[in-house]
Amino acid sequence: MPPNQPPPQEYARVLLIIILLFFLYTSPDQNVPPGFPSPHDYAAERAARARHSLDILNSSRWQDFSPKGPTTPRGEASRYLNLTGFREEDDYAWDRLSAFQKRSREFSVEARGEGDGTGNGLTGEVFENVTGVVVGKWVRYTDDLNGEQRQRNLNLTEIAPGIDWAFRDEEYWTRNITGNEGRLQIRIDERNVEGMSFDVMDKDVGSAEKRPSSWYTDYAREVEASLIVQDETSSGDGWDMKVHGVHWPRNGVMIMTTTSEKFAGIFGLPHLTPDLDHYITSQKVLNKTLEDVVEGMERITWGDNGNPWTATPNNQGDATMPAPHCEFVLYAQVYPVDSDHAIDAGGLTMTTVVHDMEQELRFPNGAPIPHIPDMQVSAVIFSPDCGFVLESKGPPSFPQTAGKHLTGKKQEVWLHDIQYWLHIFALVIFGHILLMKIQSKEASTPSTVGRVSLYTIGMMLMADALLFSSMSLLSATVTTFFPSAILTSFAALMSVALGVRFISVVYNVQEPERLERQRVRQAAEANNAAARVAPNPTPAPVPIITAAGADVPPVQAPVQANLNLAPIIIPSDQDIDAEIAENAAAPAPTLPTTNAPAGMQVPPRNNSFGAVYMKFVLTLTVILFTSLSAMSWPVGIRNVYIHILSFVYLSFWIPQIRRNIMRNCRKALLWKFIIGQSVLRLLPFAYFYLREDNVMFSNTDWKAFSVLAGWVWIQIWILVAQEVLGPRWGLPKGWTEEGWDYHPILREDNVEAGGLPIGLVQIPSSPTLDRINTGDEQGSRKKKDGSVRSVDCAICMQVLEVPVVAAGEDATGSGAAGGVAGMLARRQYMVTPCRHVFHSACLEGWMRFRLQCPICRENLPPL
Ligand SMILES: *[C@@H]1O[C@H](CO)[C@@H](O)[C@H](O)[C@H]1NC(C)=O
Ligand SMILES: *[C@@H]1O[C@H](CO)[C@@H](O)[C@H](O)[C@H]1NC(C)=O
Ligand SMILES: *[C@@H]1O[C@H](CO)[C@@H](O)[C@H](O)[C@H]1NC(C)=O
Ligand SMILES: *[C@@H]1O[C@H](CO)[C@@H](O)[C@H](O)[C@H]1NC(C)=O
Ligand SMILES: *[C@@H]1O[C@H](CO)[C@@H](O)[C@H](O)[C@H]1NC(C)=O
Ligand SMILES: *[C@@H]1O[C@H](CO)[C@@H](O)[C@H](O)[C@H]1NC(C)=O
Ligand SMILES: [Zn+2]
Ligand SMILES: [Zn+2]
Repeated sequence: MPPNQPPPQEYARVLLIIILLFFLYTSPDQNVPPGFPSPHDYAAERAARARHSLDILNSSRWQDFSPKGPTTPRGEASRYLNLTGFREEDDYAWDRLSAFQKRSREFSVEARGEGDGTGNGLTGEVFENVTGVVVGKWVRYTDDLNGEQRQRNLNLTEIAPGIDWAFRDEEYWTRNITGNEGRLQIRIDERNVEGMSFDVMDKDVGSAEKRPSSWYTDYAREVEASLIVQDETSSGDGWDMKVHGVHWPRNGVMIMTTTSEKFAGIFGLPHLTPDLDHYITSQKVLNKTLEDVVEGMERITWGDNGNPWTATPNNQGDATMPAPHCEFVLYAQVYPVDSDHAIDAGGLTMTTVVHDMEQELRFPNGAPIPHIPDMQVSAVIFSPDCGFVLESKGPPSFPQTAGKHLTGKKQEVWLHDIQYWLHIFALVIFGHILLMKIQSKEASTPSTVGRVSLYTIGMMLMADALLFSSMSLLSATVTTFFPSAILTSFAALMSVALGVRFISVVYNVQEPERLERQRVRQAAEANNAAARVAPNPTPAPVPIITAAGADVPPVQAPVQANLNLAPIIIPSDQDIDAEIAENAAAPAPTLPTTNAPAGMQVPPRNNSFGAVYMKFVLTLTVILFTSLSAMSWPVGIRNVYIHILSFVYLSFWIPQIRRNIMRNCRKALLWKFIIGQSVLRLLPFAYFYLREDNVMFSNTDWKAFSVLAGWVWIQIWILVAQEVLGPRWGLPKGWTEEGWDYHPILREDNVEAGGLPIGLVQIPSSPTLDRINTGDEQGSRKKKDGSVRSVDCAICMQVLEVPVVAAGEDATGSGAAGGVAGMLARRQYMVTPCRHVFHSACLEGWMRFRLQCPICRENLPPL
């Protein structure tokens, strides 16, 4: 095991800590501190309070709760209820109740399209079952306020005696909306409860007749909803809470409230409705349904089940020490379905059309249904204790263009959408698989695999693995998505499997290179240490990349082959004595890293890939946990986190660019792979950042998307530039160690580099040349015109014409080697360090399989 990697026990320890943290983080603290009343007492007390509240609900009448407000006539006495939060001495902001009710009526009138405000009828038909999600903007409503709001004195000890609040300070109450605008999301959930019909001809109204206007309101049922109000004070998506209440399906009105120890909201709800008709039915519905709940509470003797109408979303309840939060009363009005659809349907009435539509959605049996229109809902929110009124943004106060209140989809349509997009996503991942397959087929030889960056592939693999885990989780938890999520997760699994195979090949091929680097580092350290003890009199020679060609003096015998420290392949024509002498003179020569061959000279270690695998898994786990906890972070911080994560993920070409530079090689990956992966991996971002009605209801953000897409675009262009202009294009020369230039300018008088390649010069006959058996013939064939010489390529046996700069001529001048034309001409041939010349295509093809010179078997630096 290399010393820079921690031993496996380290990983085990980290994993253990993560698991421990997870347990600490998730296990609820159920213990009651000593000295506190037992849960049973709490439960009995709670049930008694609920029973008392229910009695008041049963016995109270319309206008029994008419708190003092700015519009109360001078002589009229204000009336309050003996319910927690509805008492005068509780000092809640009930003076704004009339404004809330007035605003509710205005919103209903606007939605139903009854301009004159007479009658209760609707011009269109609303969806009866509004289970679904709607999203929009909220704004603060202050029109009823003149000047400063009255300073209220909320004394929790008086409002709710005997409750141990987690804290009391008003400043820290949660769900206190202080901003002026934000996002509002309502997820309405109508469980399969039958609505109740009542004939509204109550004694309360004072007549025995059935009220003529009450057809819309004498049918009602229970409803609950999750409300997410985003504000600058909120965390995560926003303040998340559950509200319970009543829905009148025929006219689309809903009124819901939170209920807590300091606010008996659900018991006073009928008094918050805007008119008598709604009051009567809501009182009857609640009287009946709450009776069942309260009976249930009274039966429980063995413990405390908490508040059944708690606002805490995960139903854990505010069992022992509730944290005070602002209470919310929500009035919502469903907009009628677009009347265009009535015209489509011909003679049918709107009621039938909408009804059939909803039936078909819920119990599909193939009936033709028109396109399902979006749901539109307007909402007014009133907080009696914190004293704010919010409303959804839209007409009449704002033009249609500024906001259309809350829009969204019925649950069935939304689920269908998610499944549809999951299928598309599975196709995208299938694209990943195909590209990975093509790429791993292309890079199948050690030398081609050696060019691929481990980290580029690793990042892609990690993203797919993350996807796999989240999709498996989704398919296991949400049964509705089971088929689509399992398909997507399967595609991701295939992608991961293929990726792991490819990455293990890449890793094993690059193993010798890593060992090499390490040894060089160690050698350098040792050398430094030695140098500190006694300065080395013989400076380490600069490696002259040349070869054992016949026209090289033996003193310049190659230092390269023996620097590999891997089994040395000594060409038989080398002067071994000279080499040994060279070795003795230079015990630790500096090696250009770029020249390390990626051959398989060292057998790969078996366990080292396991360590890397472990590293990947650990990183994945850390990302997964961080992302999970990020869901509860404040919006700003979470957005920064998401942006950073996306940016890091979309930097996946950077390791490849770096590797190209380090190894001075091009053509690591197919262009098909690069473009395809970039596009496919940007697609999900495009969906969430650009599409307004995406399934997660996330905000669109084209700026962030253009930054991300531009970043990928820049990386691709760098790769293009590396391909065309050379891998080290644009980098200062000193940054990286010089690699071998396969396309040098050939000069006749270039003595330093060892002269012209073999075959291009007239040399006196030498035993080496005789044995190589190429030099003489080619030498005799070469043209003497000084600019182009021809030689036989040893791979294809065809003639290769090479431009050569004559002695004394300026290489950058007009000659064959200068300018762009010269550069292109130089791309036609390749000169190896051992100074053999080949066609570029021939040698590149050869080098895909072997990094050795085809003629003299000298190691070749990678391309
Ligand atoms: C509800 O009030 C009526 C009188 O208004 C009374 O007769 C009835 O018993 C009460 N029901 C309950 C459950 O308290
Ligand atoms: C409430 O329900 C009780 C029976 O549970 C019934 O006697 C009473 O009249 C109801 N009150 C109202 C206002 O409907
Ligand atoms: C309000 O109800 C409580 C019981 O919860 C009772 O003790 C108190 O006397 C009532 N107050 C009035 C004004 O009826
Ligand atoms: C709250 O009410 C309690 C009991 O009535 C009283 O003792 C306490 O001083 C009050 N606190 C404040 C801040 O008014
Ligand atoms: C409304 O639709 C949802 C989703 O299909 C369903 O679960 C629920 O039972 C329906 N509610 C009613 C009252 O029909
Ligand atoms: C809510 O926020 C307002 C404005 O910052 C503040 O005055 C008030 O004390 C906070 N808490 C409550 C319970 O209103
Ligand atoms: Zn050739
Ligand atoms: Zn050679």
